[in-house]
Amino acid sequence: MYKEEMLEKGYIRFDAGEDIASLYNKDMTWVESQFAEIEAAFENLPTDAYASGLHRYRRFSRAVILPWSNQVEWLPAMVKEDGEEVAEYFQGAFNPEFPDAYRSFPMLEQAMLDNELLKKMIQFDFAQTYWDKRDMVMPINVGVHFVKLKVERDGEEAVSSPNCLHRDGEPFTFAHLVKRQNVNGGQNVIATIDDVDQFPEAMDARHIFADFTLTKALESYGVADESVSHYVSSVHKGEQDEPAERSMILIDYQPTVVKPL
Ligand SMILES: [Fe+2]
Repeated sequence: MYKEEMLEKGYIRFDAGEDIASLYNKDMTWVESQFAEIEAAFENLPTDAYASGLHRYRRFSRAVILPWSNQVEWLPAMVKEDGEEVAEYFQGAFNPEFPDAYRSFPMLEQAMLDNELLKKMIQFDFAQTYWDKRDMVMPINVGVHFVKLKVERDGEEAVSSPNCLHRDGEPFTFAHLVKRQNVNGGQNVIATIDDVDQFPEAMDARHIFADFTLTKALESYGVADESVSHYVSSVHKGEQDEPAERSMILIDYQPTVVKPL
């Protein structure tokens, strides 16, 4: 659907709900009922242990997708010494806040591993990516992050990691909005790869390819890491008398054999 555009521009924007419904012949009622389960899962996200005080909550699981059959298989948990089941996330040198460090996160709950819409999102996003022939005869690794930024009080701030223009280190990453409520900020910027580590306010405006805010459930974007850098601004409370909340599903794709960018 958007593969050519991804190749040409390095990023795409789309509506995952409508696109998945039309591509897989599902009606919007099906999408909405599956999505309601996903929303419920976001009510139960633990605090991100790597962001204490930063109002960030998250879970993470890994899967593989087989390019020749589109089959998605979730990977088993890593069991830590204390018995906690986690999945590990490694970005090498690409996250300046955690250089060469593994972060381990609580896994998605079983209901999400069984959620058909989430599986379709993994398959749909994958269909918008492009790979070397060699990569297509091995499983592609998929990382699925549920991330919620939530601030309850005026003046507080929630940030994503890393909090600057960056590349992820995985060839493709997709972001799907689950909820945006009473948020000031949370704006996305896509820019040239030369602007990594910069803030959009401090750089040459001609380097910015896109500047937008996701507002509708399942409104989405995807980036090709070789072509662009990306950024989301911090989240503050808006005008209403309720917490600010911005919930996202992030899905990244990495080949079995990793080559330097
Ligand atoms: Fe990112």
